Amino acid sequence: MKTVRIAPAPSAFEIDCDRIAADKSISHRCAIFALLSDRPSTIDNFLRAEDTLASLSIAEQLGATAEWSEKGVLTITPPTRLREPDDVLDCGNAGTGMRLYCGFLAGVEGSFVLTGDRYLRARPMKRVTGPLQSVGAKLDGREEGNLAPLHIRGGKLKAFRYASPVDSAQVKSAMILAALRGDGRSYYRESFLSRDHSERMLHGMGAKIGRDTEGWITIDPMEGPLKPLKLRVPADPSSAFFFAVAAAILPGSRVKFEGISLNPTRIEAFRVLESMGAAIEYRIRQDLYEPIGEITVRYNGRLGAVEVAERIAWLIDELPALAVAMATAEGVSRVRNAAELRVKESDRIASTLRALEACGIETEEYDDGYAVHGGTLHSAVIDSHGDHRIAMSFAVAGLLCGMEIVDTDCVATSFPNFFDILSQITEVHTL
Ligand code: S3P
Repeated sequence: MKTVRIAPAPSAFEIDCDRIAADKSISHRCAIFALLSDRPSTIDNFLRAEDTLASLSIAEQLGATAEWSEKGVLTITPPTRLREPDDVLDCGNAGTGMRLYCGFLAGVEGSFVLTGDRYLRARPMKRVTGPLQSVGAKLDGREEGNLAPLHIRGGKLKAFRYASPVDSAQVKSAMILAALRGDGRSYYRESFLSRDHSERMLHGMGAKIGRDTEGWITIDPMEGPLKPLKLRVPADPSSAFFFAVAAAILPGSRVKFEGISLNPTRIEAFRVLESMGAAIEYRIRQDLYEPIGEITVRYNGRLGAVEVAERIAWLIDELPALAVAMATAEGVSRVRNAAELRVKESDRIASTLRALEACGIETEEYDDGYAVHGGTLHSAVIDSHGDHRIAMSFAVAGLLCGMEIVDTDCVATSFPNFFDILSQITEVHTL
Protein backbone atom coordinates (compact mmCIF):
# COMPACT_ATOMS: atom_id res chain seq x y z
CA MET A 1 0.00 0.00 0.00
CA LYS A 2 1.62 3.25 -1.15
CA THR A 3 1.66 6.51 0.79
CA VAL A 4 2.35 9.75 -1.07
CA ARG A 5 3.48 13.04 0.46
CA ILE A 6 2.58 16.24 -1.40
CA ALA A 7 4.49 19.43 -0.64
CA PRO A 8 2.74 22.82 -0.75
CA ALA A 9 3.07 24.27 -4.27
CA PRO A 10 6.05 26.65 -4.30
CA SER A 11 4.38 29.02 -6.76
CA ALA A 12 1.48 29.45 -9.16
CA PHE A 13 1.36 27.05 -12.12
CA GLU A 14 0.39 27.37 -15.76
CA ILE A 15 0.03 24.18 -17.77
CA ASP A 16 -1.39 23.22 -21.16
CA CYS A 17 -2.40 19.67 -20.50
CA ASP A 18 -3.01 17.08 -23.18
CA ARG A 19 -2.07 14.18 -20.87
CA ILE A 20 -5.25 13.94 -18.80
CA ALA A 21 -6.43 10.34 -18.62
CA ALA A 22 -8.77 9.26 -21.42
CA ASP A 23 -12.44 9.10 -20.53
CA LYS A 24 -13.23 6.13 -18.32
CA SER A 25 -16.95 5.89 -19.14
CA ILE A 26 -16.33 5.97 -22.90
CA SER A 27 -13.42 3.49 -22.69
CA HIS A 28 -15.53 0.92 -20.78
CA ARG A 29 -18.22 1.27 -23.43
CA CYS A 30 -15.68 0.85 -26.25
CA ALA A 31 -14.50 -2.48 -24.80
CA ILE A 32 -18.05 -3.77 -24.35
CA PHE A 33 -19.83 -2.29 -27.38
CA ALA A 34 -17.10 -3.53 -29.77
CA LEU A 35 -18.58 -7.00 -29.06
CA LEU A 36 -21.85 -5.93 -30.69
CA SER A 37 -20.20 -5.68 -34.11
CA ASP A 38 -18.84 -8.34 -36.46
CA ARG A 39 -15.93 -6.15 -37.59
CA PRO A 40 -12.89 -4.70 -35.77
CA SER A 41 -13.31 -1.45 -33.82
CA THR A 42 -10.37 0.96 -33.71
CA ILE A 43 -9.96 3.06 -30.61
CA ASP A 44 -7.29 5.67 -30.21
CA ASN A 45 -6.48 6.84 -26.67
CA PHE A 46 -8.32 3.98 -24.91
CA LEU A 47 -7.83 4.50 -21.16
CA ARG A 48 -5.02 2.19 -20.04
CA ALA A 49 -6.06 2.13 -16.39
CA GLU A 50 -7.01 -0.82 -14.20
CA ASP A 51 -10.79 -0.37 -14.44
CA THR A 52 -11.01 -0.17 -18.21
CA LEU A 53 -8.31 -2.76 -18.87
CA ALA A 54 -10.43 -5.12 -16.74
CA SER A 55 -13.37 -4.55 -19.12
CA LEU A 56 -11.06 -5.16 -22.07
CA SER A 57 -9.75 -8.42 -20.54
CA ILE A 58 -13.32 -9.60 -20.09
CA ALA A 59 -14.01 -8.86 -23.78
CA GLU A 60 -10.98 -11.05 -24.55
CA GLN A 61 -12.24 -13.83 -22.27
CA LEU A 62 -15.45 -13.70 -24.30
CA GLY A 63 -13.44 -14.33 -27.45
CA ALA A 64 -12.39 -10.89 -28.72
CA THR A 65 -8.79 -10.09 -29.61
CA ALA A 66 -7.21 -6.83 -28.53
CA GLU A 67 -4.13 -5.47 -30.32
CA TRP A 68 -2.26 -2.25 -29.71
CA SER A 69 -0.40 -0.51 -32.53
CA GLU A 70 2.97 1.12 -31.88
CA LYS A 71 1.18 4.45 -31.66
CA GLY A 72 -1.13 3.02 -29.01
CA VAL A 73 -4.25 2.61 -31.13
CA LEU A 74 -6.33 -0.31 -29.88
CA THR A 75 -8.05 -2.65 -32.32
CA ILE A 76 -10.72 -4.89 -30.82
CA THR A 77 -11.75 -7.73 -33.12
CA PRO A 78 -14.95 -9.41 -31.94
CA PRO A 79 -15.33 -13.19 -32.23
CA THR A 80 -17.80 -14.68 -34.71
CA ARG A 81 -19.65 -16.11 -31.74
CA LEU A 82 -19.16 -15.05 -28.11
CA ARG A 83 -17.38 -17.71 -26.11
CA GLU A 84 -18.50 -19.07 -22.72
CA PRO A 85 -15.42 -18.31 -20.58
CA ASP A 86 -13.84 -21.06 -18.46
CA ASP A 87 -13.08 -18.70 -15.58
CA VAL A 88 -14.68 -15.88 -13.61
CA LEU A 89 -14.81 -12.41 -15.17
CA ASP A 90 -13.01 -9.97 -12.88
CA CYS A 91 -14.18 -6.33 -13.08
CA GLY A 92 -11.60 -5.18 -10.51
CA ASN A 93 -12.83 -2.00 -8.83
CA ALA A 94 -15.17 -0.99 -11.66
CA GLY A 95 -18.87 -0.59 -10.96
CA THR A 96 -19.38 0.51 -14.56
CA GLY A 97 -17.75 -2.64 -15.94
CA MET A 98 -19.79 -4.93 -13.71
CA ARG A 99 -23.15 -3.25 -14.25
CA LEU A 100 -22.78 -2.89 -18.02
CA TYR A 101 -21.58 -6.47 -18.43
CA CYS A 102 -24.63 -7.64 -16.42
CA GLY A 103 -26.92 -6.09 -19.01
CA PHE A 104 -24.77 -7.26 -21.90
CA LEU A 105 -24.39 -10.88 -20.76
CA ALA A 106 -27.99 -11.33 -19.60
CA GLY A 107 -28.96 -11.87 -23.25
CA VAL A 108 -25.96 -13.95 -24.31
CA GLU A 109 -26.30 -17.73 -24.16
CA GLY A 110 -23.93 -19.25 -21.62
CA SER A 111 -22.89 -19.20 -17.98
CA PHE A 112 -20.90 -16.24 -16.67
CA VAL A 113 -19.63 -15.18 -13.24
CA LEU A 114 -18.81 -11.51 -12.65
CA THR A 115 -16.68 -10.63 -9.67
CA GLY A 116 -14.49 -7.77 -8.49
CA ASP A 117 -12.28 -6.50 -5.68
CA ARG A 118 -13.47 -6.31 -2.06
CA TYR A 119 -14.84 -2.79 -2.57
CA LEU A 120 -16.84 -3.71 -5.66
CA ARG A 121 -18.13 -6.90 -4.03
CA ALA A 122 -19.68 -4.68 -1.32
CA ARG A 123 -21.51 -2.33 -3.74
CA PRO A 124 -25.25 -2.71 -4.51
CA MET A 125 -26.04 -4.53 -7.74
CA LYS A 126 -29.79 -4.99 -7.22
CA ARG A 127 -30.34 -1.75 -9.14
CA VAL A 128 -29.34 -3.68 -12.28
CA THR A 129 -30.04 -7.30 -11.35
CA GLY A 130 -33.61 -6.40 -10.21
CA PRO A 131 -34.82 -4.82 -13.48
CA LEU A 132 -32.87 -7.38 -15.51
CA GLN A 133 -34.56 -10.25 -13.65
CA SER A 134 -37.93 -8.64 -14.38
CA VAL A 135 -37.25 -8.92 -18.13
CA GLY A 136 -36.40 -12.60 -17.85
CA ALA A 137 -32.66 -12.54 -17.06
CA LYS A 138 -31.40 -15.39 -14.92
CA LEU A 139 -29.08 -13.67 -12.48
CA ASP A 140 -28.11 -14.45 -8.92
CA GLY A 141 -25.64 -13.41 -6.27
CA ARG A 142 -25.27 -12.96 -2.53
CA GLU A 143 -28.15 -11.15 -0.76
CA GLU A 144 -30.63 -12.27 -3.42
CA GLY A 145 -28.65 -10.95 -6.33
CA ASN A 146 -27.50 -7.71 -4.71
CA LEU A 147 -23.83 -8.53 -4.16
CA ALA A 148 -21.14 -9.92 -6.46
CA PRO A 149 -19.95 -12.48 -7.35
CA LEU A 150 -22.95 -12.55 -9.69
CA HIS A 151 -23.89 -15.58 -11.73
CA ILE A 152 -25.59 -14.98 -15.05
CA ARG A 153 -27.22 -17.70 -17.11
CA GLY A 154 -27.74 -15.74 -20.31
CA GLY A 155 -30.78 -16.36 -22.48
CA LYS A 156 -33.90 -14.87 -24.02
CA LEU A 157 -35.04 -11.47 -22.78
CA LYS A 158 -38.39 -9.74 -22.98
CA ALA A 159 -39.06 -6.25 -24.27
CA PHE A 160 -39.86 -3.90 -21.39
CA ARG A 161 -41.12 -0.52 -20.24
CA TYR A 162 -39.08 0.51 -17.19
CA ALA A 163 -39.06 3.83 -15.33
CA SER A 164 -35.90 3.75 -13.22
CA PRO A 165 -36.06 4.92 -9.60
CA VAL A 166 -32.36 5.96 -9.82
CA ASP A 167 -30.80 8.42 -12.26
CA SER A 168 -27.91 6.14 -13.12
CA ALA A 169 -26.12 5.83 -16.44
CA GLN A 170 -24.91 2.40 -15.39
CA VAL A 171 -28.46 1.11 -14.85
CA LYS A 172 -29.65 2.82 -18.04
CA SER A 173 -26.79 1.34 -20.07
CA ALA A 174 -27.33 -2.16 -18.66
CA MET A 175 -31.01 -2.00 -19.60
CA ILE A 176 -30.27 -0.60 -23.08
CA LEU A 177 -27.83 -3.48 -23.69
CA ALA A 178 -30.48 -5.96 -22.54
CA ALA A 179 -33.08 -4.26 -24.76
CA LEU A 180 -30.86 -4.80 -27.81
CA ARG A 181 -31.52 -8.51 -27.31
CA GLY A 182 -35.19 -8.18 -26.33
CA ASP A 183 -38.13 -9.56 -28.28
CA GLY A 184 -39.59 -6.19 -29.30
CA ARG A 185 -39.27 -2.43 -28.74
CA SER A 186 -38.28 -1.50 -25.16
CA TYR A 187 -38.81 1.76 -23.30
CA TYR A 188 -36.62 3.20 -20.54
CA ARG A 189 -37.08 6.40 -18.58
CA GLU A 190 -35.11 8.21 -15.89
CA SER A 191 -36.33 11.29 -14.01
CA PHE A 192 -33.18 13.25 -14.89
CA LEU A 193 -30.88 12.58 -17.84
CA SER A 194 -27.75 10.74 -16.64
CA ARG A 195 -24.57 10.70 -18.77
CA ASP A 196 -25.63 9.68 -22.26
CA HIS A 197 -22.50 8.11 -23.82
CA SER A 198 -24.27 4.79 -24.39
CA GLU A 199 -27.13 6.35 -26.35
CA ARG A 200 -24.75 8.45 -28.46
CA MET A 201 -22.30 5.63 -29.19
CA LEU A 202 -24.90 2.96 -29.91
CA HIS A 203 -26.79 5.35 -32.17
CA GLY A 204 -23.50 6.00 -34.01
CA MET A 205 -23.07 2.22 -34.37
CA GLY A 206 -26.44 2.00 -36.10
CA ALA A 207 -28.59 0.74 -33.22
CA LYS A 208 -32.22 1.88 -33.38
CA ILE A 209 -32.29 3.98 -30.27
CA GLY A 210 -34.34 7.15 -29.94
CA ARG A 211 -36.59 9.15 -27.66
CA ASP A 212 -40.37 9.47 -27.85
CA THR A 213 -42.41 12.59 -27.15
CA GLU A 214 -42.97 11.62 -23.50
CA GLY A 215 -39.24 11.36 -22.81
CA TRP A 216 -38.97 7.55 -22.92
CA ILE A 217 -35.80 6.20 -24.53
CA THR A 218 -36.91 3.68 -27.18
CA ILE A 219 -34.67 0.76 -28.08
CA ASP A 220 -35.37 -1.75 -30.85
CA PRO A 221 -33.67 -5.16 -30.79
CA MET A 222 -30.59 -5.51 -32.99
CA GLU A 223 -31.44 -7.02 -36.36
CA GLY A 224 -27.81 -8.06 -36.88
CA PRO A 225 -24.33 -6.97 -35.85
CA LEU A 226 -23.80 -3.21 -35.39
CA LYS A 227 -21.22 -1.06 -37.20
CA PRO A 228 -17.80 -1.05 -35.51
CA LEU A 229 -16.55 1.88 -33.45
CA LYS A 230 -13.92 4.24 -34.80
CA LEU A 231 -12.93 7.04 -32.46
CA ARG A 232 -10.35 8.81 -30.40
CA VAL A 233 -11.44 8.77 -26.76
CA PRO A 234 -11.50 12.34 -25.39
CA ALA A 235 -9.86 13.34 -22.12
CA ASP A 236 -11.97 12.57 -19.06
CA PRO A 237 -13.59 15.72 -17.59
CA SER A 238 -13.84 13.97 -14.21
CA SER A 239 -10.06 13.40 -14.18
CA ALA A 240 -9.32 16.90 -15.50
CA PHE A 241 -11.47 18.38 -12.75
CA PHE A 242 -8.82 17.70 -10.08
CA PHE A 243 -6.48 20.08 -11.89
CA ALA A 244 -9.34 22.51 -12.55
CA VAL A 245 -9.78 22.79 -8.77
CA ALA A 246 -6.01 23.12 -8.37
CA ALA A 247 -5.97 26.13 -10.73
CA ALA A 248 -9.06 27.65 -9.10
CA ILE A 249 -7.59 27.61 -5.57
CA LEU A 250 -3.91 28.37 -6.20
CA PRO A 251 -3.48 32.13 -6.73
CA GLY A 252 -2.22 33.10 -10.20
CA SER A 253 -2.67 29.64 -11.74
CA ARG A 254 -4.10 28.53 -15.06
CA VAL A 255 -4.69 25.16 -16.69
CA LYS A 256 -5.86 24.33 -20.19
CA PHE A 257 -7.23 20.91 -21.11
CA GLU A 258 -7.14 19.85 -24.73
CA GLY A 259 -9.19 17.16 -26.47
CA ILE A 260 -11.61 16.97 -23.56
CA SER A 261 -15.24 15.83 -23.65
CA LEU A 262 -17.62 18.79 -23.50
CA ASN A 263 -20.69 16.58 -23.17
CA PRO A 264 -23.10 18.70 -21.06
CA THR A 265 -23.87 15.69 -18.85
CA ARG A 266 -20.20 15.63 -17.84
CA ILE A 267 -19.05 19.22 -17.29
CA GLU A 268 -21.54 20.49 -14.72
CA ALA A 269 -18.84 20.60 -12.01
CA PHE A 270 -16.90 23.11 -14.14
CA ARG A 271 -20.10 25.21 -14.33
CA VAL A 272 -20.40 25.12 -10.53
CA LEU A 273 -16.73 26.05 -10.08
CA GLU A 274 -17.40 28.95 -12.45
CA SER A 275 -20.39 30.03 -10.36
CA MET A 276 -18.04 30.02 -7.33
CA GLY A 277 -15.90 32.61 -9.12
CA ALA A 278 -13.26 30.71 -11.16
CA ALA A 279 -12.71 32.03 -14.70
CA ILE A 280 -13.54 29.21 -17.12
CA GLU A 281 -13.68 29.11 -20.92
CA TYR A 282 -15.01 26.32 -23.10
CA ARG A 283 -14.28 25.86 -26.81
CA ILE A 284 -15.86 23.12 -28.93
CA ARG A 285 -13.46 21.89 -31.64
CA GLN A 286 -15.15 18.80 -33.05
CA ASP A 287 -18.03 16.40 -32.62
CA LEU A 288 -17.29 12.68 -32.56
CA TYR A 289 -20.26 10.94 -30.94
CA GLU A 290 -20.19 13.97 -28.60
CA PRO A 291 -18.72 17.51 -28.43
CA ILE A 292 -14.97 17.62 -27.78
CA GLY A 293 -12.71 20.66 -27.33
CA GLU A 294 -10.86 22.73 -24.76
CA ILE A 295 -11.49 23.98 -21.26
CA THR A 296 -9.34 26.66 -19.64
CA VAL A 297 -9.57 27.36 -15.91
CA ARG A 298 -7.96 30.41 -14.29
CA TYR A 299 -7.61 31.52 -10.69
CA ASN A 300 -9.84 34.55 -10.26
CA GLY A 301 -9.65 35.46 -6.56
CA ARG A 302 -10.97 33.59 -3.55
CA LEU A 303 -13.93 31.36 -4.40
CA GLY A 304 -17.40 32.02 -2.97
CA ALA A 305 -19.69 29.44 -1.37
CA VAL A 306 -22.27 27.58 -3.46
CA GLU A 307 -25.40 25.45 -3.00
CA VAL A 308 -25.59 22.33 -5.14
CA ALA A 309 -28.90 20.48 -5.09
CA GLU A 310 -29.79 20.00 -8.76
CA ARG A 311 -28.33 18.19 -11.77
CA ILE A 312 -26.51 15.95 -9.27
CA ALA A 313 -26.09 13.11 -11.78
CA TRP A 314 -24.05 15.48 -13.94
CA LEU A 315 -21.39 16.08 -11.27
CA ILE A 316 -21.63 13.13 -8.91
CA ASP A 317 -18.05 11.98 -9.55
CA GLU A 318 -16.62 15.48 -9.11
CA LEU A 319 -18.20 16.19 -5.70
CA PRO A 320 -15.13 15.13 -3.63
CA ALA A 321 -12.87 17.53 -5.59
CA LEU A 322 -15.55 20.21 -5.46
CA ALA A 323 -15.65 19.75 -1.66
CA VAL A 324 -11.99 20.76 -1.56
CA ALA A 325 -12.85 23.93 -3.51
CA MET A 326 -15.74 24.54 -1.07
CA ALA A 327 -13.33 24.19 1.87
CA THR A 328 -11.32 27.16 0.55
CA ALA A 329 -14.38 29.29 -0.31
CA GLU A 330 -15.77 32.18 1.64
CA GLY A 331 -18.95 31.05 3.42
CA VAL A 332 -20.87 27.82 3.87
CA SER A 333 -21.43 25.58 0.83
CA ARG A 334 -24.09 22.89 0.73
CA VAL A 335 -24.70 19.73 -1.30
CA ARG A 336 -28.13 18.03 -1.18
CA ASN A 337 -29.93 15.22 -3.08
CA ALA A 338 -26.63 13.37 -3.39
CA ALA A 339 -27.34 10.17 -1.41
CA GLU A 340 -25.86 8.25 -4.38
CA LEU A 341 -22.44 9.33 -3.03
CA ARG A 342 -22.88 6.74 -0.28
CA VAL A 343 -22.66 3.83 -2.74
CA LYS A 344 -19.67 4.90 -4.82
CA GLU A 345 -16.15 3.40 -4.54
CA SER A 346 -16.41 4.40 -0.86
CA ASP A 347 -19.20 6.12 1.12
CA ARG A 348 -18.08 9.43 -0.34
CA ILE A 349 -20.13 11.56 2.05
CA ALA A 350 -18.34 9.99 5.01
CA SER A 351 -14.90 9.73 3.40
CA THR A 352 -14.95 13.32 2.09
CA LEU A 353 -16.15 14.80 5.37
CA ARG A 354 -13.75 12.83 7.59
CA ALA A 355 -10.89 13.97 5.36
CA LEU A 356 -12.01 17.61 5.42
CA GLU A 357 -12.34 17.46 9.22
CA ALA A 358 -8.81 16.04 9.46
CA CYS A 359 -7.71 19.17 7.53
CA GLY A 360 -9.41 21.39 10.12
CA ILE A 361 -12.55 22.21 8.12
CA GLU A 362 -15.93 22.36 9.84
CA THR A 363 -18.61 20.21 8.17
CA GLU A 364 -22.19 19.07 8.67
CA GLU A 365 -23.37 15.67 7.48
CA TYR A 366 -26.84 14.93 6.06
CA ASP A 367 -28.25 11.64 4.79
CA ASP A 368 -28.10 12.99 1.25
CA GLY A 369 -25.26 15.50 1.38
CA TYR A 370 -23.30 17.88 3.54
CA ALA A 371 -22.31 21.43 4.40
CA VAL A 372 -18.72 22.63 4.18
CA HIS A 373 -17.70 25.72 6.14
CA GLY A 374 -15.05 27.46 4.07
CA GLY A 375 -11.84 28.17 5.97
CA THR A 376 -8.16 27.33 5.87
CA LEU A 377 -7.00 23.84 4.97
CA HIS A 378 -4.29 22.32 7.19
CA SER A 379 -1.88 19.54 6.40
CA ALA A 380 -3.09 16.09 7.49
CA VAL A 381 -2.73 12.37 6.89
CA ILE A 382 -5.67 11.24 4.74
CA ASP A 383 -6.86 7.66 4.26
CA SER A 384 -8.20 7.20 0.71
CA HIS A 385 -10.41 4.24 1.83
CA GLY A 386 -9.30 2.65 -1.44
CA ASP A 387 -11.18 5.38 -3.34
CA HIS A 388 -9.26 7.00 -6.22
CA ARG A 389 -11.29 10.21 -6.20
CA ILE A 390 -10.71 10.77 -2.48
CA ALA A 391 -6.96 10.21 -2.93
CA MET A 392 -6.72 12.66 -5.85
CA SER A 393 -9.00 15.33 -4.32
CA PHE A 394 -6.91 15.56 -1.16
CA ALA A 395 -3.65 15.41 -3.08
CA VAL A 396 -4.87 18.61 -4.77
CA ALA A 397 -5.76 20.12 -1.38
CA GLY A 398 -2.12 19.38 -0.50
CA LEU A 399 -1.02 22.01 -3.03
CA LEU A 400 -2.16 24.63 -0.51
CA CYS A 401 -0.94 23.14 2.74
CA GLY A 402 0.96 19.88 2.18
CA MET A 403 -0.69 16.48 2.65
CA GLU A 404 0.08 12.81 3.15
CA ILE A 405 -2.25 10.40 1.37
CA VAL A 406 -2.33 6.81 2.57
CA ASP A 407 -3.32 4.05 0.11
CA THR A 408 -2.85 5.71 -3.27
CA ASP A 409 -2.72 2.48 -5.29
CA CYS A 410 -6.37 3.08 -6.21
CA VAL A 411 -5.38 6.08 -8.37
CA ALA A 412 -4.30 3.53 -10.99
CA THR A 413 -7.95 2.50 -11.49
CA SER A 414 -8.71 5.68 -13.44
CA PHE A 415 -5.72 8.05 -13.75
CA PRO A 416 -2.34 6.26 -13.68
CA ASN A 417 -0.32 9.41 -14.56
CA PHE A 418 -2.08 11.68 -12.04
CA PHE A 419 0.97 12.07 -9.78
CA ASP A 420 3.24 12.71 -12.82
CA ILE A 421 1.11 15.70 -13.75
CA LEU A 422 0.88 16.82 -10.11
CA SER A 423 4.67 16.74 -9.90
CA GLN A 424 4.76 19.45 -12.61
CA ILE A 425 3.19 21.68 -9.94
CA THR A 426 4.87 20.58 -6.73
CA GLU A 427 7.11 17.97 -5.13
CA VAL A 428 5.49 14.56 -4.79
CA HIS A 429 7.25 11.85 -2.75
CA THR A 430 6.23 8.22 -2.54
CA LEU A 431 7.03 7.01 0.97
C1 S3P B 1 -20.74 5.97 -14.90
C2 S3P B 1 -21.90 6.40 -14.32
C3 S3P B 1 -21.94 7.01 -12.98
C4 S3P B 1 -20.55 7.41 -12.49
C5 S3P B 1 -19.52 6.37 -12.76
C6 S3P B 1 -19.43 6.09 -14.24
C7 S3P B 1 -20.82 5.36 -16.24
O1 S3P B 1 -22.47 6.10 -12.06
O2 S3P B 1 -20.59 7.71 -11.11
O3 S3P B 1 -18.25 6.79 -12.30
O4 S3P B 1 -19.79 5.25 -16.93
O5 S3P B 1 -21.94 5.00 -16.66
P1 S3P B 1 -24.08 5.92 -11.92
O6 S3P B 1 -24.60 5.77 -13.28
O7 S3P B 1 -24.31 4.70 -11.12
O8 S3P B 1 -24.54 7.14 -11.22
